[in-house]
Amino acid sequence: MSAEPKDQPSGKLWGGRFDRAPDEIFYQFQRSFSFDRRLLPYELAVDRVWAGALVSAGILSIEEMRDTLTALDKIADRAANEYAWLGGSPAEDVHHFVETALVEYLGALGYKLHTGRSRNELVATDFRMFVMESAGEMRATVAGMIAALVGQAEKAMGIPMPGMTHMQHAQPILFSHFLLAHAEAFFRDMQRLDAAEAMADACPMGSGALAGCALDIDRGAIARELGFSRPTANSLDAASDRDFALDYLYALSVIATHLSRLAEDFVLFASQEFGFIILPDEFSTGSSLMPQKKNPDAWELLRGKTGRVTASLHTLLTTLKGLPSSYQRDLQEDKEPVFAAHDQAIAMLTIAAGAVAATRPNEARMREAASDPALLATEAAHYLVRKGAPFRQAHEIVGQIVREAERAGKPFSQLPMETLHKFSPLFAADFYDALNLESALAGPDVEGGTAPDRVRGAIAAAKERLATLERKS
Ligand code: ARG
Repeated sequence: MSAEPKDQPSGKLWGGRFDRAPDEIFYQFQRSFSFDRRLLPYELAVDRVWAGALVSAGILSIEEMRDTLTALDKIADRAANEYAWLGGSPAEDVHHFVETALVEYLGALGYKLHTGRSRNELVATDFRMFVMESAGEMRATVAGMIAALVGQAEKAMGIPMPGMTHMQHAQPILFSHFLLAHAEAFFRDMQRLDAAEAMADACPMGSGALAGCALDIDRGAIARELGFSRPTANSLDAASDRDFALDYLYALSVIATHLSRLAEDFVLFASQEFGFIILPDEFSTGSSLMPQKKNPDAWELLRGKTGRVTASLHTLLTTLKGLPSSYQRDLQEDKEPVFAAHDQAIAMLTIAAGAVAATRPNEARMREAASDPALLATEAAHYLVRKGAPFRQAHEIVGQIVREAERAGKPFSQLPMETLHKFSPLFAADFYDALNLESALAGPDVEGGTAPDRVRGAIAAAKERLATLERKS
């Protein structure tokens, strides 16, 4: 069974050297239109510029170019408004789709646009344009995520929480400091997105199938007209380079990983054991069995969906590994992972930003947990250091009094002076006053520290950085 009788070769982009039409099942197997039709707007943009280039190269007359441009506009219009036309098309890929439609509108002239070019450079160009535009959309969405974290940090300013390492109480910090830590990760993502966009910013058009174009064209002008800052440097490389897609997928994988880590914190903080945050109804679900339950499903799904995004990077790396130079049909597998990861990351960031903004901190619970005297042990060591003890010795002494307090069944900050003196003569009455949450929080008064004034400064700085990023885009 064949897709088409051999006497209708005009419907295909190739076929002259073939005796028989392709196997129907194989023909369907090798089609990419179901997903690469997403590249149609970029394909049409390239077509418009190429029509102009063909005039300069003496292939199209001005009138033929005008007719071609009009037909391209009609195709854009019809594709946007008539879903079934696009959805029901039997085209092999987006390039075939446009050529078929051009021939429908222009007759034989429709075939002229493909002069001097190859689908290999077309698909690479379309895909680069997609990545450049998508990186911009992603940056705006990441900015929304940062704004949600910074907004929450501003609202919650002043709430202490136990800072943890190894999931053990370590030193008190501000809840806002914790939120800004996550914001910082997303700021770095912005730079990774910039880098991926810069990597995509070179135009393959004029590379031909692999060797370059034999027509008299101005590759620099074509690149600029399409919004690229330069043409690619080597035609063979241009046909097979997908580094820009890898870089974009890496940036998305890191974003998803950041979301997953934030999710883990929020899932824990929402548990009864922590109780640091109150889950918003809008981003939670209940149990069909247990009436009391409010579950952090938004965060769990964010954590769970991360694998899809990181898997996309792995998929493309695996596709590229072992490919010989220049275009190979394996490269058709490059688009779906990128489209899927892009859509997934946009959805994830949107949900996460909404959930962060709607979450309420449980101030009483966090303050209570932050008041665990164990969190002040570092402060106690600093107290002895101020009295002249070397830090290593101070650390040892405080360790001993913590153990003694554990034995006595009370916090070390409540041990009587005579007990403390058994460990060091440096302890004095001011020890008890020195040990408080406020002074512990105020201690790390350095750039990037959790001292309240520093955190206030960091919030203001984060807002300024966001505004600068917005002005740039
Ligand atoms: N659909 C193809 C892709 O996405 C377009 C390029 C086809 N080129 C070729 N030589 N068969 O990669």
